[in-house]
Amino acid sequence: MRVVILGSGRGSNAEAILQAQQAHGLGAAKVVQIFSDQPGAGILALGARFGVPAAFIDPAPFKTKLEGEGEDRFIEAIRASSADLVVLAGFMRVLKPKFLSAFAGKIINLHPSLLPSFPGLDGIGQAFRRGVKVTGCTVHYVTLEVDGGPILDQAVVRVDAGDTLEVLANKVHAAEHELLPAVIAKLSLQLTK
Ligand code: GAR
Repeated sequence: MRVVILGSGRGSNAEAILQAQQAHGLGAAKVVQIFSDQPGAGILALGARFGVPAAFIDPAPFKTKLEGEGEDRFIEAIRASSADLVVLAGFMRVLKPKFLSAFAGKIINLHPSLLPSFPGLDGIGQAFRRGVKVTGCTVHYVTLEVDGGPILDQAVVRVDAGDTLEVLANKVHAAEHELLPAVIAKLSLQLTK
């Protein structure tokens, strides 16, 4: 299963996926490409470290969604990678129908809360400020409804008394680093059955 990772940020989840792959813990999945919409994103530096091609793709003309020429550039590049699965690992853009139908049923997203609670931006901060005692992370298929697609799996994180936002964020990220590679491995084994 050929995996293309899209990300906008530091890339700790992409790193967890690549580390799982190195440790033979990614099932029949293989990361073949990393793309980012941010030219200076940390995720791009993983390419050289792990021997995976990594490239910036200009997402213009929009700032928070992927549509128009930028969308076309992403579609073309992902098609050229012959992706079986597109993994959004901190890709901070809303996807539109053209992109979704180009890779129908093949796009998954990681979100830092127990969906359907706290969709949208800053899922960890939203949960922290609401005072929930249990939060976590979710991997789900991507549909037109932002953070609303069918859920593949979730991991639970307990909010302990005295946890600061920073402590909670570290706990959620640690859970993400386990969950996302495990979901990818599972999908790859289903696909190759
Ligand atoms: C992760 O916490 C992921 O859940 C979140 O961005 C972070 C990326 O971190 N994604 C979203 O909030 C999507 N709505 P990373 O760049 O270190 O992998």
